[in-house]
Amino acid sequence: MDYVMEWASLLLRWLHVITAIAWIGSSFYFVWLDLSLRKREGMPQGAHGESWSVHGGGFYHVQKYLVAPERMPAELHWFKHESYFTWLSGFALLIVTYWYGAQSYLIDPAVAELTVVQAIAISGASLVLGWIFFDQLCKSPLGQNLWVLGAIIFAFLLAAAWGYSQVFGGRAVLLHVGAVIATWMTGNVFFIIIPNQKKVVATLKAGGTPDAVYGKIAKQRSTFNNYLTLPVLFLMLSNHYPMTFAVEALWVVVGLVVLIGATIRCWFNFTHEGRSGWVMHWQWPLAGVLTLGLAWFLYVPPIQAQADEAIISDAQAMSTVQTHCVACHGPVAAAAMKGVQLHTLEAIQRNQAGILAQAVNGRAMPMGNASGMTDDERRQLGLWLQSR
Ligand code: HEC
Repeated sequence: MDYVMEWASLLLRWLHVITAIAWIGSSFYFVWLDLSLRKREGMPQGAHGESWSVHGGGFYHVQKYLVAPERMPAELHWFKHESYFTWLSGFALLIVTYWYGAQSYLIDPAVAELTVVQAIAISGASLVLGWIFFDQLCKSPLGQNLWVLGAIIFAFLLAAAWGYSQVFGGRAVLLHVGAVIATWMTGNVFFIIIPNQKKVVATLKAGGTPDAVYGKIAKQRSTFNNYLTLPVLFLMLSNHYPMTFAVEALWVVVGLVVLIGATIRCWFNFTHEGRSGWVMHWQWPLAGVLTLGLAWFLYVPPIQAQADEAIISDAQAMSTVQTHCVACHGPVAAAAMKGVQLHTLEAIQRNQAGILAQAVNGRAMPMGNASGMTDDERRQLGLWLQSR
């Protein structure tokens, strides 16, 4: 069964990355296209702007109609499946990794003694509740001002990170905040943007004039999709880097990641708009300073031995690893998790950096900490590894 799940995980991850590239790629393209539009004399009636580009040996000439063209074209291309399949494959991956492996990936007994069913219920329900909150907020009077909306959403994400930290292990906290945002993004496409677009098309086909409010709503939603793209990708990748979730205040990590990603995105948006001058000069310095701040916040200094503290012997270190690691990182190469084997002194030394990152500076291993590795054991092992 585990072998089957491993394959499911690999194939789903492959699919997820492909669909995400397709979605985010086309979304970046359309944001660029939108901002590159320029007005020109003699454009057809109803056209808002146009853009020329060159790619793959030909020239492309695109014109945008804000509400709709006079006559509907016979063939109209929609961009929606990229988004749907990104969410579906991501959700399936969540099930295969975090729900099937809840014991290891979701639950951390040091945080909360949840049963598997409880943990999965929290994981699933939080995504649904997160969407309901976001959707209602966007529809409320508060949602009409993008700055107010942005501030509330930012505060909500910090609160979500804090809330998840009360129930899940660090790895699952960052991933779930990412999944909440990703659900908003696809929900925006599925529940709001595409249905509204369909109404507009239907009205046009019936010979009527569509209500401009639909365009305004789509703009509100897509603005958030645009600014949240980069943070979401960081949060999705963070679980492969235990240093990102080794701290307790994960809401600080989420806050900085959202600010850094949105700031970088802002630079791209302004560039596409063709802006220049001082408005172009603050984003990279700010993103750089915030990234340094994040690195500083997450830095774990080398462990300092106390004056009279003896470093454990090789045999003691091996025994610690034997107790807490070898069950999953044992002598059978094909069965060792991630191919990491820790059953001999030589193998432990070879994986020194990985052990420090995963089990000493970070708390990612032993996975799920079923063997109850203590902080003191981590410290002792760390001192010993540093002395090698
Ligand atoms: C319950 C099983 C289990 C235990 C016990 C366990 N690990 Fe792991 N380990 C895993 C799994 C699963 C992965 C793959 C994680 C992933 O997919 O990101 C892994 C990955 C690793 C990696 C590689 C990470 C990477 O992505 O490069 C290292 C290093 C590691 N473990 C060290 C340890 C150490 C040190 C211990 C003991 C303190 C330990 N593990 C205990 C299951 C376990």
